[in-house]
Amino acid sequence: MRLQNRVAIITGGASGIGLVAVKKFIDEGAAVVVADFNEEAGKELVASYEQHEKPILFVQTDTSKRQSVEALVQKAVDTYGKIDILVNNAGITKDAMLHKMTEQQFDDVLNVNLKGVFNCTQAVIPHMIAQGYGKIINTSSVSGVYGNVGQTNYAATKAALIGMTKTWAKELGRKGINVNAVAPGFTLTAMVQKMPEEILTRMESVTALQRLGQPEDIANAYLFLASNESDYITGHVLHVDGGIMM
Ligand code: CAA
Ligand code: NAI
Repeated sequence: MRLQNRVAIITGGASGIGLVAVKKFIDEGAAVVVADFNEEAGKELVASYEQHEKPILFVQTDTSKRQSVEALVQKAVDTYGKIDILVNNAGITKDAMLHKMTEQQFDDVLNVNLKGVFNCTQAVIPHMIAQGYGKIINTSSVSGVYGNVGQTNYAATKAALIGMTKTWAKELGRKGINVNAVAPGFTLTAMVQKMPEEILTRMESVTALQRLGQPEDIANAYLFLASNESDYITGHVLHVDGGIMM
């Protein structure tokens, strides 16, 4: 069991990549707190684990709202007494070409993908610092590394997460906290299902491994970075993209 006795918060854990990560973390022995906006999906997930030896704690959370995040962290600590792992996985897209992008689209994506990660990490680190141990994983994207047509707002946030990851690795290393990012390629979840079919086909054809990602591919990287197998890795951006660009 790679996460025995660990307590993990996974944001956006009610669907897509986050959901697969929740299941993997539980299988590896962790107690998992799912922080997601989607209450219906969260409740379904809790119900499906009711009889499990490790039940899931779901806290309906909007990561872009400070008060909501503070309540999440309080609930996690009240329930489990500590937080060892934070996976900042929640994210949204509101794609448009630059000349058509509204201020609202820009702000909405920044609030969730960038400020949400700041909110969650700032609320969690006092608990990690107090115990001298922590693993923080930020979900970036190929869009943040290479840019992507139609994603001015999204690419900006995902690139910013790389800067924050490296900054936090430098600030928090001496406190026993590892901070890394995962940069997934196009992965088959609800997020990419909104994309035009021909663009997805093009993305597949320019990927060295000639396929799109599965949520499991990304969740495996989260698990590695959350486990003690990655204890000497910090400030790293792990590209899990099938070799879409090199
Ligand atoms: N590469 C090159 N050119 C592209 C392109 C691409 N990926 N996407 C669009 N274009 C071109 C179009 O061919 C078109 O060219 P012409 O003007 O010469 O005809 C021009 O850009 C405008 O495109 P649209 O007609 O599609 O414009 P639109 O305003 O109707 O829609 C859009 C724009 C919403 C951005 C739409 O093109 C779209 O949804 N694109 C996909 C964006 C995308 O890749 N999103 C990723 C979502 S998944 C995700 O975000 C996860 C992750 O981390 C990777
Ligand atoms: P998804 O749309 O399937 O799941 C995202 C989850 O986050 C949903 O359950 C949603 O309710 C939740 N969420 C959204 N806003 C929230 C908020 N403010 N507070 C709390 N929860 C919120 O998306 P997917 O594909 O699983 O994405 C997970 C992460 O991976 C995101 O950060 C995304 O940007 C990133 N990513 C995804 C890629 C893909 O191709 N699917 C590629 C690269 C990165």
